[in-house]
Amino acid sequence: MFFYFLFLFLGWDVRHLEHDVIYWDIVVVTTLDNVQKDAYDALIQQRSTINRIPLGVDYLVITDPGKIGNGGSTMHAMHVLEQKYGWEILRQKRILLIHAGGYSQRTPTTSCLGKIATSIPKGWPTYDLLDIKLALYSLFPGRMPHGGVFLCSSDTIELFDESHANTSWLLTDDFVAFAHPSSLTVGTQHGVFVLDPTDKRKCICVLQKPTIEQMKIHKAVWCHGEEEFVYTDSLFYFNMNVAQRLAEVYRQEHNIQCEIDCYGDFMSALGICPLPRPVTKENDDNQQRTRIKQKIYDTLLDCHLQVVILHKSSFNHTGTNDEYLDICCGIGKTGQEIFEELKLEKHVGCKVFDEGRHDTIDFWHGILPALPHGDTLHHQPSAPDVHGCVIHSFIHPKCRSSKRSLFEYCCIGVPMQIGDNTILSNITLVTYSDFNQTILHLPSNLIMQTVPLNNELFATFAFGFHDNMKATHNNLDKILYFGQPVSILAKKIHRTIDDLFDDENNRSLWTLKIFPVTKDPNESFEKTLKLIISDDFTVSEKQYVSIQEILKRRDISSAIQYRSNLINCT
Ligand SMILES: *[C@@H]1O[C@H](CO)[C@@H](O)[C@H](O)[C@H]1NC(C)=O
Ligand SMILES: *[C@@H]1O[C@H](CO)[C@@H](O)[C@H](O)[C@H]1NC(C)=O
Ligand SMILES: *[C@@H]1O[C@H](CO)[C@@H](O)[C@H](O)[C@H]1NC(C)=O
Ligand SMILES: *[C@@H]1O[C@H](CO)[C@@H](O)[C@H](O)[C@H]1NC(C)=O
Ligand SMILES: *[C@@H]1O[C@H](CO)[C@@H](O)[C@H](O)[C@H]1NC(C)=O
Ligand SMILES: *[C@@H]1O[C@H](CO)[C@@H](O)[C@H](O)[C@H]1NC(C)=O
Repeated sequence: MFFYFLFLFLGWDVRHLEHDVIYWDIVVVTTLDNVQKDAYDALIQQRSTINRIPLGVDYLVITDPGKIGNGGSTMHAMHVLEQKYGWEILRQKRILLIHAGGYSQRTPTTSCLGKIATSIPKGWPTYDLLDIKLALYSLFPGRMPHGGVFLCSSDTIELFDESHANTSWLLTDDFVAFAHPSSLTVGTQHGVFVLDPTDKRKCICVLQKPTIEQMKIHKAVWCHGEEEFVYTDSLFYFNMNVAQRLAEVYRQEHNIQCEIDCYGDFMSALGICPLPRPVTKENDDNQQRTRIKQKIYDTLLDCHLQVVILHKSSFNHTGTNDEYLDICCGIGKTGQEIFEELKLEKHVGCKVFDEGRHDTIDFWHGILPALPHGDTLHHQPSAPDVHGCVIHSFIHPKCRSSKRSLFEYCCIGVPMQIGDNTILSNITLVTYSDFNQTILHLPSNLIMQTVPLNNELFATFAFGFHDNMKATHNNLDKILYFGQPVSILAKKIHRTIDDLFDDENNRSLWTLKIFPVTKDPNESFEKTLKLIISDDFTVSEKQYVSIQEILKRRDISSAIQYRSNLINCT
């Protein structure tokens, strides 16, 4: 049996950890800003009160000093640890380092609380990525006899097969990197290990986002029958000797103004025959970046790297909406595998909406009976026709949802139909003002979420499932919102085009100010929805905000409180 299964099967109740289990001494989560830090601190606090995460572990949430990339963030974290504990004490500590900074622009419904708070449909209250990661990685501390740092990103789920429960390897080398087979195309976007064919634990060098041709020249391509693949990077371990060197580089360059990559920039110096040292280019527009890369290269050059190969397809990102829905709904080869291995559930803590009570409904405060555990909507009377995933929600009996959809933290009191590629998060809709259809059809390919703002206001954002949030455009015609040019949107909300953006040099869906700010969550949902499904001009609101502004003004304590109430009401 896999070690982590123990936790997942037992509901990851940490009381089972008390005896003879070696666990992390310190878990570090890095964040982008202090609002995100508050969210993570509150989340960790909440998880420990329900015995979801072990006590007796130092959980540290460390805010990055600016946008310095996961490599900069790693070096900074080592520096902070040194300040806090000193190397004498750190030397024997087993440290898990989770990089969780960033606004997750590819998955906006995870931006409000942060990536590690992403719901995973399992258990009561539902797991989030932090819980899953702590359970999955619980097999590693026991392999770190001399301590060290185990580094992972916040938006991946890795499964480890039986051979890795074997004690034949330890995390003691300077670096131990986990490699997993990927297609050549995936390889072009990652670090690719060139391994010694006679002993795959030995690494010649780590190519960085190589072309397919470069992979072939370096003999990094392997075959399984007809299928060609390469070994790409994901998790890695480094020992305290390396940690100390990284902290030293940080101290020398404490005012980092550029992004450093913990994969690309740390790995290039590693291997039996490493890649060449980064060169100083003429007219270098970022001299600091090159200097830091060189320093890292020089300091890590004599470090030893061992590679551990992970089982095929045992790794998946939750970093895009597609990947996330695949996992929650158990769709596609990898999605299904993860769904089954982690024993996920299609419906977690959800209940059919009781129409008779909608005037007095108080969603989370226990006026309705507690949400049933481990039950599916389909077993409940007048079950709605839902085929997708439903997490902690009340759903009207006449709702319909397609196989590839997700309701989380919703209270839907009207008949509603959602199609493929839809994520509705934290939507409250008990009545719909001009409801004249038998069912409210939402378009497919839709993500929507209601977010509490400061001063008891609300806004609901909505985007297309595949929208590129980051792409900036000088040509306004290029910005399409559900197929509508911004000029139409401006008319709809009685604004001029110039009103829709604060910065004319930074015009993207991320900065588009079209979401009404309202006093009621249901109202904000309805008004945002009308932007998409109604051709009429809406009544003008006092204020419209972009998702960028929603996140700036979000009321984190209210958002956290809301979820705590849910947990406490049962
Ligand atoms: C597990 O370890 C033993 C020796 O410790 C070795 O003989 C065996 O091949 C290993 N199994 C796997 C699947 O790696
Ligand atoms: C994750 O799963 C999706 C769908 O199953 C697949 O398209 C994608 O390539 C996988 N990603 C990785 C990194 O394996
Ligand atoms: C019903 O809804 C449609 C749009 O959804 C609207 O055009 C129409 O005026 C509504 N009818 C009534 C009677 O409210
Ligand atoms: C545009 O806004 C995004 C999001 O806030 C920011 O990350 C980016 O640096 C900005 N770009 C410019 C050119 O100002
Ligand atoms: C929103 O809900 C409040 C109270 O629950 C209600 O008074 C109001 O009419 C609703 N607004 C809309 C637009 O449905
Ligand atoms: C969800 O929306 C409600 C309002 O309906 C708000 O009070 C709460 O803070 C929101 N929760 C999250 C996690 O955003």
